[in-house]
Amino acid sequence: MNNPVYINGEFMEYEAARIDLEDRGYQFADGVYEVINSYNGKPFRMIEHFERLKKSAAALEIKVSDYGQLQADAEELIRRSGFTDASLYLQITRGTEPRSHAYSDDLTPNIVMTVKELKNHPDEYYQKGVKAITLPDERWSRCYIKTIALLPNVLAKKKAKRAGAFEAIMVRDGFITEGTSSNLFIVRDERIITPPATNYILNGITRRVILEEAAKLGFTVLEESISLGELFEADEVFLTGTTTEVMPVVEIDGGVIKDGKPGKITGKLFDHYRGLLG
Ligand code: PDD
Repeated sequence: MNNPVYINGEFMEYEAARIDLEDRGYQFADGVYEVINSYNGKPFRMIEHFERLKKSAAALEIKVSDYGQLQADAEELIRRSGFTDASLYLQITRGTEPRSHAYSDDLTPNIVMTVKELKNHPDEYYQKGVKAITLPDERWSRCYIKTIALLPNVLAKKKAKRAGAFEAIMVRDGFITEGTSSNLFIVRDERIITPPATNYILNGITRRVILEEAAKLGFTVLEESISLGELFEADEVFLTGTTTEVMPVVEIDGGVIKDGKPGKITGKLFDHYRGLLG
């Protein structure tokens, strides 16, 4: 197949794929998702992504009958795509019914998966670092759910792009939460710090990998709140995410971080992370 997709248990060509106009994802953003990268044909941290997917769906009372089969189907779709390095998008919406805010209890979810060839960000972003802006975090209070309702993230990312920045770092009550599609870390006095995984952030799989691996490398790692002031005074700032990997941030709101160059520890973590991807 040229461009295989998956809908509700069936593999088909992209052009043949159909979703009902009354899918609740389309009308209410009533659904959850995951983005899973696969390197050299091997999905990275598939189990963790599926664990989070299950939690997200359960938090919204979306019931999936067989996650084991779904995971096997995800692997099969990656295989059918033929891409050496691939990015899988998996979306589960509550299902289809005539539009009404309150949902029926017996809905069958609509499960869609698409796969694209994985395209890394330009090397230059990692070598020279990127710019970011800060913005108020205007999201709801259940950001640990990876829901497809992403309007605040979408609007904030667009503002960042308009400002010539790579990411918008969101701030709630004076403290950093995360990026619009990434988690945030700072380095201070050789200690690696990231905000705790409360309900106000998405507990990124890459975030967890970096916390684990940095500890293995002998660094002190802390999950602690980071104020806006601490962000600007950091020795190093970096973002993590499936598509972001480990991205150095060298300028925020027009002010440079330290000497305006990617930090040594960030570089070490980036190299180490790349090494894990196979
Ligand atoms: N986003 N925080 C938010 C709000 C995110 O949307 C993401 C990922 C992350 C990083 O999570 P992970 O390390 O598990 O990818 C943090 C995906 C990639 C996206 O929306 O495209």
